[in-house]
Amino acid sequence: MKLLLVTYYTETGHTKRMAEEIGEGAERLGVEAEAKRIEECGLNDLVEADGIVIGSPTYFSNVSWRVKKLIDESIALYRKRRQLTDKVGGCFTSSGTRRDGKDCIRMLELAFGLHHKMKMIPGIIRASGDREEEVSKMCQQYGMKVARQILS
Ligand SMILES: Cc1cc2nc3c(=O)[nH]c(=O)nc-3n(C[C@H](O)[C@H](O)[C@H](O)COP(=O)(O)O)c2cc1C
Repeated sequence: MKLLLVTYYTETGHTKRMAEEIGEGAERLGVEAEAKRIEECGLNDLVEADGIVIGSPTYFSNVSWRVKKLIDESIALYRKRRQLTDKVGGCFTSSGTRRDGKDCIRMLELAFGLHHKMKMIPGIIRASGDREEEVSKMCQQYGMKVARQILS
């Protein structure tokens, strides 16, 4: 069975809910999904997954430092035979505003899509005021899109 890792940081729970819904979407297509807090996630978790989706709240138009910490640590995988290259990648953020969320997403897409050369699926943003049903639908559909890419 193919494995999708959805790793995230959250303070007030919105990013966690997005992670769980993305995982559910992927599981609907038969991909095993594990939603895991980024503080509990090691480099081996990244290596073992067929796809990696990473989420952060938008903090000052950027990612939380906990997320950046794992990204920085992933240089070890880059140095050691580019171990993330060609894996399926995705990203998401929960943000106060969509505009600042875009900056956070750009940062994640650069790290994984450009530097690690993963097969990156453009990320998704939840902004304050978005209807929960819409967010849930967007996340489930995103999980399915990632799963389709993993299975292709
Ligand atoms: C330290 C900090 C910085 C933030 N910076 C921004 C920001 O630059 N732009 C924005 O729109 N929202 C900002 N926010 C709001 C969060 O992005 C928003 O509340 C998010 O939904 C929190 O996600 P969580 O529930 O997963 O913790 C900030 C919040 C905190 C705590």
